[in-house]
Amino acid sequence: MDLTTVILAAGQGTRMRSALPKVLQPLAGKPLLGHVLDLVAAIDCSDTVVVYGHGGKAVQAAFPAETLKWAEQAEQLGTGHAVKMAMPHIDDGRLVLVLCGDVPLLRPATLQALLSTCANGDVGVLTVDIDDPTGYGRIVRDTSGFVQAIVEQKDASPDELTVREINSGVICAPSAKLRQWLDALSTDNAQGEYYLTDVISAAANDGTTVHAVKADDPDEVMGINDRRQLAAAECIYQHRLANELMDSGVSLADPARIDIRGSLRSGQDTFIDVNCVFEGDVVLGERVHIGPGAVIKNTTIGDDTVIHPHCVMEDSAIGARCQIGPFARLRPGAEFAAGSKAGNFVEVKKSHIGEGSKVNHLTYIGDATVGRDVNVGAGTITCNYDGANKHHTTIGDEAFIGSGVNLVAPITVGAGATVGAGSTISRDAPDGELTLNRAPQKTITGWQRPVKKKR
Ligand code: UD1
Ligand code: CA
Repeated sequence: MDLTTVILAAGQGTRMRSALPKVLQPLAGKPLLGHVLDLVAAIDCSDTVVVYGHGGKAVQAAFPAETLKWAEQAEQLGTGHAVKMAMPHIDDGRLVLVLCGDVPLLRPATLQALLSTCANGDVGVLTVDIDDPTGYGRIVRDTSGFVQAIVEQKDASPDELTVREINSGVICAPSAKLRQWLDALSTDNAQGEYYLTDVISAAANDGTTVHAVKADDPDEVMGINDRRQLAAAECIYQHRLANELMDSGVSLADPARIDIRGSLRSGQDTFIDVNCVFEGDVVLGERVHIGPGAVIKNTTIGDDTVIHPHCVMEDSAIGARCQIGPFARLRPGAEFAAGSKAGNFVEVKKSHIGEGSKVNHLTYIGDATVGRDVNVGAGTITCNYDGANKHHTTIGDEAFIGSGVNLVAPITVGAGATVGAGSTISRDAPDGELTLNRAPQKTITGWQRPVKKKR
């Protein structure tokens, strides 16, 4: 049977105390609903209906994919009512998987296990055994172990309350029968809501087999209702990513002190020190060493490169055997060829630094092309902006720029040229020659320092 996924995302999320709809709260930099949609993609489901309510406009704007279908639930009358709102989008003869927009840690394999039990038109529910089932729906089985019903906390008898197997909220059922069961739901229960969970007893009464598939790991079915749970889920998620990295051959100084908000791929024998944050798509080569406190976004770093402590970089490309930092800031478009260096308090933007070139101290390089084996002295600045437009600086191979030089762009420093320390140059410096520009030095003999006036 072809699969349709229904994602329940109409809840208000009052306990978040936020202007943002709950399903847009970020986990590892991505909205909760984004994680659930990734899960749907991972199980190869191409037909998805999102049930929205509160903050619907914002939710739709955050997920503009044309393939998503949206069903409005204007009033939150219960989970059963929410699924019913999605049914007009779903033909008979399909298998319907119900997920919650606020349950982001499920694994694709767990869902596959659930789906495989329902392939022949049976009903499946994902359950888990937990130590403290308070608040959850309890799974009620008959003496032979078949699932009979799900009883909500507020409707449960003292006996039922002792059951530790709980409903994760994930259910799958054939669409035609689901439609009938949903139409027959009533609000005759402690909360006066249409319970999706009542579909289970309806199925059992109809003689449809209900399979309870147990997830091994209670973390997977964790629902996010408040910021404490959001932080706890972040912790679990980061721990998973840290474990995957270590399993792939990366050493972490402390797996509890790395944050990955996006995708981090790495070659083997890379080492990552504490308190590093990775955002967007980051690709590391082999034997890369990342010092503590790095913030690295959408950047590739080549083999054997060392990132010294406390560097911040974004949209940059760093080759093999480079040395960056400590305290370097690489802004979008910074490119470092193999074996080049950027030292402390150096900022590089939209510039190419050639092979073996060094920009070691307190320098700003912006809109520049720097050749190979160039030495840029301490405190050198490319004056790239005239207040209206940006201009380019070109520095040839093996040039030597002394300390404290201002290069007023547009300008070209030739190959093998030397620019004397302290110069402000605004015309091209020819190949192989020394160019400098300094006021003549004076000494005023016998000059007296001012002294404070006595009162
Ligand atoms: C539900 C289950 C419970 C299960 C628990 C797991 C029911 C009746 N109970 O309880 O058995 O153990 O989840 O977390 O299904 N929603 C809507 N529209 C509504 C109501 C809810 O879209 O009218 C959405 C919520 O946004 C949320 C999800 O459905 O994503 C679950 O709703 P929630 O109120 O949290 O259900 P629980 O009471 O926790
Ligand atoms: Ca609830």
